[in-house]
Amino acid sequence: MAGKERNIKVKIDNVRKVYDTRNGEMIALNGVNLDIMENEFICVVGPSGCGKSTLLNIIAGLLEPSSGAVYCDGKEVKGTGTERGVVFQQYALFPWMTVKKNVMFGLNLKGIKGQEAEDIAMKYIKMVQLEDFVNHYPKELSGGMKQRVAIARAYAVNPSILLMDEPFGALDAQTRTQLQTELLETWEKEQKTCFFITHDVDEAIILAQKVIIMSARPGRIKEIVDINIPYPRTQETKMTPEFLELKNHIWSQVYQEYLEVRK
Ligand SMILES: Nc1ncnc2c1ncn2[C@@H]1O[C@H](COP(=O)(O)OP(=O)(O)OP(=O)(O)O)[C@@H](O)[C@H]1O
Ligand SMILES: [Mg+2]
Repeated sequence: MAGKERNIKVKIDNVRKVYDTRNGEMIALNGVNLDIMENEFICVVGPSGCGKSTLLNIIAGLLEPSSGAVYCDGKEVKGTGTERGVVFQQYALFPWMTVKKNVMFGLNLKGIKGQEAEDIAMKYIKMVQLEDFVNHYPKELSGGMKQRVAIARAYAVNPSILLMDEPFGALDAQTRTQLQTELLETWEKEQKTCFFITHDVDEAIILAQKVIIMSARPGRIKEIVDINIPYPRTQETKMTPEFLELKNHIWSQVYQEYLEVRK
């Protein structure tokens, strides 16, 4: 990507979100500003309840900001759109559909049908190495396999940005590591913009070009840390002094915010 001009993919402009709750108003986000560049891989970390999912859902168009705005490719986000693919922690597959049908679902919504939809679905099912399971139902798959289906489904509709809310949060360490590697390989090939929420600082550093640290509620951006470790990154990367230094720094910043929550 060196030398390539990059445009702003998503502009988060002074976003504030207030929820009405039984105990009155709750400010979840206050004055969040961020430019996400095209093809960029951003990870977001921060204590539980700091507004990470709220922010992702506002970018996805699933929630409206109370004030401020989000722009995607220069256009104000007013709802969901196929250029923004979402992957949640809890797979969200249709239990009554096979793997192939699940992956084809979004394609059909886009008006792509028949053999063309099948071919595209198969390409992404192969990408996540599930070609032997195309006719299986979600209940017949492991957690990691279900999350692969969710990722294939998100990729199949060819979004230009992937919004991922702790997609690997429910997985065991080995599966998680494997899916991180697969996701990075795909990102290097397809160069989509990724906005990825995680609680795992190691995961954030291994994946991201930039790690956004959010402060305790009301959520604001506390710090943006550039991760200048070259790709491809591997498990060995986690032993390098630069990785460990970044990990120390980010972890201590997040921990400070965690202590704020507990005050
Ligand atoms: N629909 C809602 N109504 C009222 N309050 C909400 C709603 N959704 C979230 N909140 C509150 O807004 C704050 C931010 O929630 P959010 O889910 O965005 O946090 P998060 O950073 O994603 O947390 P976690 O790391 O636990 O997933 C929390 O205090 C939460 O209780
Ligand atoms: Mg969340």
